[in-house]
Amino acid sequence: MTDLRSEAPLRVNRRFVHDPHEVYRELRGTGPVRRVSMTAAPDAWLVTDYAGARALLADPRVAKDHLRALELYPADVGLALSSDLSHNMLQSDPPDHTRLRKLVSKAFTAKAVARLTPRIERVVDDLLDDVAARGRVDLVESFALPLPIEVISELLGVPHADRKKVREWSTPFVLASSTEEVAKAGREIKAYFAALIVEKREDPGDDLLSDLVHVMVDGDRLSEPELVAMAFLLVFAGHETTANLIANGVLALLRHPDQMAALKADPTGLPTAIEEFLRYDSPIHIATTRFTTEPVRVGDVEIPADQFVMISLLAANQDGARFPDPDTLDTTRPATGHLAFGHGIHYCVGAPLARLEARIALGALLARFDGLALDGAPDELVWRRSTLVRGLSALPVRVR
Ligand code: HEM
Repeated sequence: MTDLRSEAPLRVNRRFVHDPHEVYRELRGTGPVRRVSMTAAPDAWLVTDYAGARALLADPRVAKDHLRALELYPADVGLALSSDLSHNMLQSDPPDHTRLRKLVSKAFTAKAVARLTPRIERVVDDLLDDVAARGRVDLVESFALPLPIEVISELLGVPHADRKKVREWSTPFVLASSTEEVAKAGREIKAYFAALIVEKREDPGDDLLSDLVHVMVDGDRLSEPELVAMAFLLVFAGHETTANLIANGVLALLRHPDQMAALKADPTGLPTAIEEFLRYDSPIHIATTRFTTEPVRVGDVEIPADQFVMISLLAANQDGARFPDPDTLDTTRPATGHLAFGHGIHYCVGAPLARLEARIALGALLARFDGLALDGAPDELVWRRSTLVRGLSALPVRVR
């Protein structure tokens, strides 16, 4: 058995955040697990191979602990999030998780989200009208990000006038923002959703939040704090991720013009291509916080009990043992089985919605513009400062 405790840990530094693919390429062949050290959090164990990542995502001995996860952040951020916001479905184990998921999952089936198609198409067309009129835009700011925010807000029943605020509040949670920014956003978003829930209780609309306020499954319903935490989770999980899928997908195509041309000529290949975008540059880099409750073996390494575990979805999806020639973008390959939406009980509940949004968005973008080009040098692109998400801060493009 390999004992990694004496090895020098990998530093989670600027390079790891900006070019994780390069770091993982260097690590290939050195084993599926390594110790990592970070400036602002305790040391952790990083899992990078496909088989190990998939196994741990479904292993009940690798559990959630929302209070301990809060301890990874400075105290004032912990206070701001408090157990209210962080005690959500994604941060819960069974039986809490099973119960919360049951209450919300019906709204996200492929059939349920298909009803949103005309609305998504309209939002996409409006955003692209604006892109066309301007000619040179940041595609993240003007297309990839506003689309999912609009869609999740619509689904939840967030009034139009408040959508900009909701977007501003959720940004600090994915970026390594200052503790004050996160604390302030946490307080505001909590107060906002608490008030909105009161409104939906008194005057329900045709939206998910109204449904959740009134839903009853097997005599069970969501408490007030659970409703706030669920609304926060859906907003937070539903937009940055989808925006990254769209923008990372466009960037991949800009770097592979032959594959862009092929998809433009035959858009029926888009669903397959979207799975490859999810694999090739996964929108979530490292899965959310987990801890071992018992010693757990990954390959030749035993991770002791009570350890902070980081499961790299990005690295797992680039494992050559599972996906041959992993560094090559091949929009025709069957990339199904990737871990970009996670695996096990926390498998992304919004996956059908994310796929639908990406298909409509990328399909319309390719159909609309004959010329789509990067507006600037590829090495000037800046990635978001986060180990949770893998996404561009901006994607400057010219369209024709
Ligand atoms: C491309 C877009 C998306 C990606 C890559 C993505 C990825 C993920 C991943 C990896 C997880 C599991 C995290 C873990 O186990 O640590 C997850 C869970 C989740 N996602 Fe997504 N997601 C996307 C879009 C969405 C959308 C659109 C929504 C909702 C509107 C959503 C809602 C959720 C929720 C609620 C969970 C928690 C599920 C649970 O704990 O049972 N996601 N997502």
